[in-house]
Amino acid sequence: MKDVLVELERRRSTARQGGGTVRIDAQHKRGKLTARERIDVFLDEGSFEEFDMFVEHRCADFGMENNKIAGDGVVTGWGTVNGRTVYVFAKDFTVFGGSLSETHAQKIIKVQDMALKNRAPIIGFYDAGGARIQEGVAALGGYAEVFQRNVLASGVIPQISVIMGPCAGGDVYSPAMTDFIFMVRDTSYMFVTGPDVVKTVTNETVTAEELGGASIHSTKSSIADGAFDNDVEALLQMRRLIDLLPQSNTAEIPQIDSYQSIEEPDQSLDRLIPDNTHKPYDIKELIQKTSDEGDFFEIQQDFAKNIVCGLGRVEGRTVGFVANQPMVLAGVLDSDASRKAARFVRFCDCFGIPLVTFVDVPGFLPGTDQEYGGLIKHGAKLLFAYAEATVPKVTVITRKAFGGAYDVMASKHLRGDMNYAWPTAQIAVMGAKGAVEIIFRKDLDDPEKIAAHTKMYEDRFLSPFVAAERGYIDEVIMPHSTRPRIARALQMLRNKTLSNPWKKHDNIPL
Ligand code: HXC
Repeated sequence: MKDVLVELERRRSTARQGGGTVRIDAQHKRGKLTARERIDVFLDEGSFEEFDMFVEHRCADFGMENNKIAGDGVVTGWGTVNGRTVYVFAKDFTVFGGSLSETHAQKIIKVQDMALKNRAPIIGFYDAGGARIQEGVAALGGYAEVFQRNVLASGVIPQISVIMGPCAGGDVYSPAMTDFIFMVRDTSYMFVTGPDVVKTVTNETVTAEELGGASIHSTKSSIADGAFDNDVEALLQMRRLIDLLPQSNTAEIPQIDSYQSIEEPDQSLDRLIPDNTHKPYDIKELIQKTSDEGDFFEIQQDFAKNIVCGLGRVEGRTVGFVANQPMVLAGVLDSDASRKAARFVRFCDCFGIPLVTFVDVPGFLPGTDQEYGGLIKHGAKLLFAYAEATVPKVTVITRKAFGGAYDVMASKHLRGDMNYAWPTAQIAVMGAKGAVEIIFRKDLDDPEKIAAHTKMYEDRFLSPFVAAERGYIDEVIMPHSTRPRIARALQMLRNKTLSNPWKKHDNIPL
């Protein structure tokens, strides 16, 4: 008996060594943790249960039959984050560059299937070179099986990808189908084909960072939902994110103790809107003053900053915040902002997370640049997302809600449940200047008349009261009472039941 126990321990310890100490040292030298170290930081201490530690590849080409490493380049299993079950897989770059073989794929598929069957989130830590080149189509088939499961699990359980090293080929497509992608600055890259292939095909000289670094994907391409300075920070932030997410689309949203009163008014909000309506202010201040203890997990912080999206809590329960940001492009809706917010709204709706929307939007961005880029279709994505969402929707218009953007931003007409406005709200087809120039064009040469028309337009339309008179705004509220009003609205909406007509699936304008 003793010999078998010793043999098991020996096998385990060999498997834990992955590609060996030289490659582990190289991994550390690059500022990266190993797959197992990442799992250790991410999960509750001692909670990790590993599967398939002894799995090896079955490839017999290119001398691979003599080169087998237990685990085959990916560490899989489950554990807990603050007591809640999470399935994990971490690519082991020290073993064949974390590349995916047939058996490596089967290990991932096993945890994907378990996560879906048992309705718990799944997170992948990526550091891998794509399909195992020596395996050819067996590896390609393995990827497709992983992709298929990504799709089936989409909207059922949260799926998160963290890019922690160079990732190419299939190792970028699977993350692309998950709910969120995060990257580590300076050590991680994502591209379909790397700089060498780019040079051969297009004759373009580009570095890995320029092609697919965190700096590109979190600001330009919007592939990444966030970037962190190092592995440990990324892993700890993923614990924070998991804490905010429900286990599945049928599970309750998580509730934790909250310490900040929901009755206390915040007088500072009465001074948030500047006297000059053209002056910007930071909408994040309002989000932070609404969310418990000011805690806010922002998504795509560095992309389309004219709209702010992220998760927080009210009375201990998770809420999705969407807010126009007057500090950037006056909070205008353009294609990027619309796409960003649409995806976030749909994520929240999938998982039953109530939406709180703060509106200060001068409209959609005009111009050929936007129109040629498909603004109509991108804007429609956000409109579609809000209109189909059945989760509780609480909206507060703080200042401008002009034109189509008024409709889009979770208005009453798109089944907004509680639509509030601050007294500073201006709800109209457009701002006074543009409106007067169109409807009083004949008086444009007479500044006095134009001033009088402008004053009349401002008095009549640039307030929340025309909308409130029609019931499009449920109540005009004091800014200082925003958090208490939102908290009460969310309490009232806890048992909201609303469903859309049966359909196979919708046809959102992609
Ligand atoms: C087998 C691989 C591998 C792969 C890396 N390795 N990628 N082995 N298949 N795809 C091995 C290397 O041989 C090496 O082994 C070790 O991993 C580390 O690789 P290095 O090149 O030394 O590391 P580095 O310089 O950091 O470069 C990392 C890399 C590069 C950028 C990922 O290795 C690379 O470009 N690999 C190929 C990427 C690629 O084109 N993959 C196929 C994509 S097609 P030793 O023994 O020396 O440690 C694809 C199809 C699916 O994925 C598409 C679905 C839609």
